[in-house]
Amino acid sequence: MAASHPIRFHVAHTPAAAPGYVLEALDANQNVNGRFTQRCAETLEAMTGAGRVLITHSATAALEMAAMVLQAVHGADQVFMPSYTFSSTANAFIRAGYDVQFIDVDPQTMSPGLAEFVATDAPANAVVVPVHYAGNPGEVDAITEWAEDRGVWVVEDAAQSLGSTIGDRHAGTFGTLAAVSFHFTKNIHSSMGGALYINDPELADRTTYIWERGTNRQAMLRGLVDKYSWVEVGSSFQSTELQAALLLAGLEDYDEVVAHRRELWDRYAAMLFGREDAGLFTQRWRPDARNNHHAFYVRLASPESAEDLRITLKSAAIDAYIGYVPLHSSPYGEAHGYSRDLPETDRWAECVLRLPIHTGMTAGDADRVAAVIVDWLSD
Ligand SMILES: Cc1ncc(COP(=O)(O)O)c(C=O)c1O
Repeated sequence: MAASHPIRFHVAHTPAAAPGYVLEALDANQNVNGRFTQRCAETLEAMTGAGRVLITHSATAALEMAAMVLQAVHGADQVFMPSYTFSSTANAFIRAGYDVQFIDVDPQTMSPGLAEFVATDAPANAVVVPVHYAGNPGEVDAITEWAEDRGVWVVEDAAQSLGSTIGDRHAGTFGTLAAVSFHFTKNIHSSMGGALYINDPELADRTTYIWERGTNRQAMLRGLVDKYSWVEVGSSFQSTELQAALLLAGLEDYDEVVAHRRELWDRYAAMLFGREDAGLFTQRWRPDARNNHHAFYVRLASPESAEDLRITLKSAAIDAYIGYVPLHSSPYGEAHGYSRDLPETDRWAECVLRLPIHTGMTAGDADRVAAVIVDWLSD
């Protein structure tokens, strides 16, 4: 067989405008919270309808800020989140001293749906964290409604879901707060970066203090106070102007990037959907949701099948990637008393395989990946 070119799992998108913007940021000699940071925040606010956006150095930082502000303002100290998520979701709340309860997922989205949150019986003032796995906001609208009725706070882990919507509302605008990632593995990136959406105006000032090392420096910049001082426990959560310059270029390319990814996603869907009888399970999106095409993953019938398919793809020079390693049964989770029965998570987490999807691929590349999978299924 003729050697085929390698298909990497991810290649970060580099916008044409990025080098120019980065030089402009360097020339401006304002390293933090300058013109690029402000334009990124305004662009995200206009694009998504988020109340107020703070640009951070990561979604990890945004999650940590969310945990801190809900504790500082409301005294929240308990949180419910899926075990099937990235370590940052849990770290943020554990660092802030919360009692963390891991919950199960709906295997069709690999995120908790309304039923999983209802089963928590979360008390008033608890926090729930819907994680939008693979960019899919799932039932976050119904979850938020349920939470509001109970006086429960919602922090959306929208790390992967920039650009996804339910109806005409963007992911990240349902919860009290939401964290978005611009890590280089996301649709657009600032090398490492993130944003916190603050959808409750009452939290805006305190969250801004936390963002800026616990000071009211922003109030000074706006002429509201003469000098700034320490007013809150915070940290250094901002991004640099260099990161923001990269991010702005990415935001300007966003529609083009998603259109490219959509074409690849649709090619995968055309060849791989409807093969449940052969042991290949795919993901479910609501008809009223818009997919940001961040990820295409499949679920195999067993961890052994997932590993066998991963190796088969690897031998065809194609990198596929596993899903999250659940937190409740991770080494830290087990050592710290988090282990419990989460039947769907335990059943499916190791069966997930994510396929390459990025702007460095052609539609023909996606067909090649899907063809290897179809061949493997028929063996
Ligand atoms: C669900 C989820 N939350 C949080 C993060 C952390 O994002 P960041 O790398 O921007 O800190 C990730 C990373 O991919 C993630 O997948």
